[in-house]
Amino acid sequence: MTELNDQYNRSMRDLRISVTDRCNFRCTYCMPKQVFNSKHQFLVRNDLLSFEEVTRLAQLFVNNGVRKLRLTGGEPMLRKNLDVLIAELSKISGVEDIALTTNASLLTLAKACELKRAGLHRITVSLDAINQDTFMRMNDMKVSVQKVLDGIDNARSAGFESIKVNMVVQKGVNEDDILPMAEYFKGTGNILRFIEFMDVGNTNGWNMQQVVSGQEIVDCIQQKFPMQPTDPDYTGEVAKRWRYKDGGGEIGLITSVTQAFCGDCNRLRLSAEGSIYTCLFASQGVDLRRLLRQGASDEFINEVITNTWKDRSDRYSEVRGKGNNVVHKVEMSYIGG
Ligand code: GTP
Ligand code: 5AD
Ligand code: SF4
Ligand code: SF4
Repeated sequence: MTELNDQYNRSMRDLRISVTDRCNFRCTYCMPKQVFNSKHQFLVRNDLLSFEEVTRLAQLFVNNGVRKLRLTGGEPMLRKNLDVLIAELSKISGVEDIALTTNASLLTLAKACELKRAGLHRITVSLDAINQDTFMRMNDMKVSVQKVLDGIDNARSAGFESIKVNMVVQKGVNEDDILPMAEYFKGTGNILRFIEFMDVGNTNGWNMQQVVSGQEIVDCIQQKFPMQPTDPDYTGEVAKRWRYKDGGGEIGLITSVTQAFCGDCNRLRLSAEGSIYTCLFASQGVDLRRLLRQGASDEFINEVITNTWKDRSDRYSEVRGKGNNVVHKVEMSYIGG
């Protein structure tokens, strides 16, 4: 197989598949109630790709170099029979890693075991605060911290190891939780990752003043727990890793705003309705569902995929704020983180 490269010589490795645009949380920075409870039109059943359609496309992406699949949403566990999809995806030869990003509120022990049995390798959980009031204010659906911690425990009991916990940090909202979160997860074997608040979508009213930089986060934790940087796990890893000097494990920093990582970005996203996006900040996707439903051949769809990747020149985070404003970006809940 010849290596498929984009305009900056980046290959295609990591496919993020959104299986639904719905979520049972209304995180204020992602799906604010005032927009998503009234004006927003969610996709209907027939809009969504079927599992057969997702699997067929995934196979074509794998043929072009993809090795890692990540299921996202919205909240992917709202999609019925997710385990059936995972089982199908895990039959594709060439797939090395299948992961899931979830808010864990629906992750019962039975569900976690079902996902594990189906062939899911890893789970990443979003949790923005360990303080109950702060977390409830952020998810805006009165979901308790304990519910999510139970989900993480259930995942561990089902056999998932090194669970990653993603915390989006917003100045004036949850920055006081940086240290308590670090303290809570230190020594548990779970890997806490701090994400700089990003200007994805159009509804979260982002501005630079709300960003707490990765450096500020490291400084805050170092005061109490000395750390040292460690090498990435693999090329193109999104998070920068820091290890506690006392052996209490590691944390990660996702610094898309202050230190962009577009240079080796090998990710692409498939929306729940079957469009591909070559950047998290894209405004337009390429509709593959139409081709699937018009009866296009694998060869034809493959050509569309390869041409899309060859043409790719996205590096939004690197040029952010330099007069490149994208007019209407897609929502993160639509294409998945
Ligand atoms: P691993 O496979 O465990 O390395 O996880 P990952 O970092 O690829 O995936 P995860 O879903 O945990 O990503 C964490 C967060 O980083 C996402 O939710 C986004 O907020 C952010 N992120 C991931 N990929 C990109 C990207 O391509 N660009 C930008 N700007 N941010 C990204
Ligand atoms: N900035 C940074 N991260 C975000 N996420 C959602 N919206 C944003 C944003 N504006 C995160 C979620 C989850 C992942 C899928 O993306 O919290 O961890
Ligand atoms: Fe749902 Fe995740 Fe968006 Fe929160 S950040 S509303 S959990 S998709
Ligand atoms: Fe990749 Fe776009 Fe994120 Fe840059 S901004 S890392 S190109 S998804």
